[in-house]
Amino acid sequence: MEQIQTKRIVLGISGGIAAYKCAELTRLLVNQGIQIQVAMTEAATHFITPTTMQALSGKPVYSNQWGEHTADHMAHISLSRATDAIIIAPATADFIAKLAHGLADDLLSTLCLARNCPLLLAPAMNKQMWENPATQRNIQQLVADGVTILGPVSGTQACGEEGMGRMQEPVELARAVVAFFQPKLLSGVKVLLTAGPTYEAIDAVRGMTNRSSGKMGYAIAQAALELGAEVTLISGPTALSSPHGAVLMNVTSAAEMFDLVKNHVADVNIFISVAAVADYRVAQPNKQKMKKSASGLTLELLPNPDILGYVTGLPKPPFCVGFAAESHNLHEYAATKRKTKKVPLLAANLVQQAIGADDNELVLFDDAGEHVLPRADKLTLARALLQHVIKLYRQGN
Ligand code: PMT
Repeated sequence: MEQIQTKRIVLGISGGIAAYKCAELTRLLVNQGIQIQVAMTEAATHFITPTTMQALSGKPVYSNQWGEHTADHMAHISLSRATDAIIIAPATADFIAKLAHGLADDLLSTLCLARNCPLLLAPAMNKQMWENPATQRNIQQLVADGVTILGPVSGTQACGEEGMGRMQEPVELARAVVAFFQPKLLSGVKVLLTAGPTYEAIDAVRGMTNRSSGKMGYAIAQAALELGAEVTLISGPTALSSPHGAVLMNVTSAAEMFDLVKNHVADVNIFISVAAVADYRVAQPNKQKMKKSASGLTLELLPNPDILGYVTGLPKPPFCVGFAAESHNLHEYAATKRKTKKVPLLAANLVQQAIGADDNELVLFDDAGEHVLPRADKLTLARALLQHVIKLYRQGN
């Protein structure tokens, strides 16, 4: 993975109400080890103070072209030369218009015009302003100029209206910044993932499921997107939102997941089976709600299809990654499972630490032996796992 800790970013804040979210964005980026230099328009200082931004970034904030931070008054040159990217968040309609027309009448717009590094914009404005043909023309111009546009998203706006124009949430923007710096090692590669639990109906209201949250699978989907992959995510019921850019297909039961995998696996390069698929389903689920019986209830269960087994058994299977969730004897069971599942790579985890949790630890099993990916949040682990997958995938292609 690209060493994000070495990156230096100018966070430019223009004057919109979403400016308050820059405090959180700065904190998230600084936590990743990224050096943040804040530059604000004068209007932005009415929404959030330079003092707040200085405290969070750990550096003096630039807001005045004629300020005292640089002896030669050349902040617009020195700042843009010492940075790997500039991100403007929020980017107001007015600031976007200035950039599209090459105007430079304050420090931040001059800095953007004088840059020799990539520029990312996170637009934030009222929906009518966003939909205005002038704004759309300006955005198209900036895209044509090679500027990266992050968002906006739809939702409730500060003015009380609903619609497109909200700035992406800080956590999404921080992810997008990290993704922006990743070398696109999976460009042109199609990745199919299963994630989450399955739900097997007993009757109209009851069913059998498990505690998988989908977090591990969704994190791998996110990490694959960062590396430029085309990602299809087939997910059992979860409370998570789709990673931006993935094709998400929701299913309920193992049979539905199996059908979708069969329909979409044909031209896939990498298949990663993270889902906690129910091994059994009820032979005859009742379409109505069953009445309670004093004599108890016996359910007949039938085995579900082995989805991963089906994919590895294809005449030309994609590169397959299996998962194993074990409550004990992790190494022994996982090594055996890798052989029975016939996968080149199996990622094993202890179910009591992994399921539903925000972080995890993985032990990878492949032909070369075992590799521990130490405890970390699931996105960090997913990124490390994909580096290993890419190495093995390339050896076989
Ligand atoms: O979703 P989280 O809360 O983030 O938790 C993540 C996780 C613990 C669910 C995940 O890391 C994990 O371990 N997933 C696999 C869990 C599992 O069911 O393992 P298994 O040993 O039952 O299955 C082995 C492999 O076969 C898995 O890749 C599974 O997806 C696949 N399988 C299993 C049964 C079946 N009928 N079809 C399958 O494809």
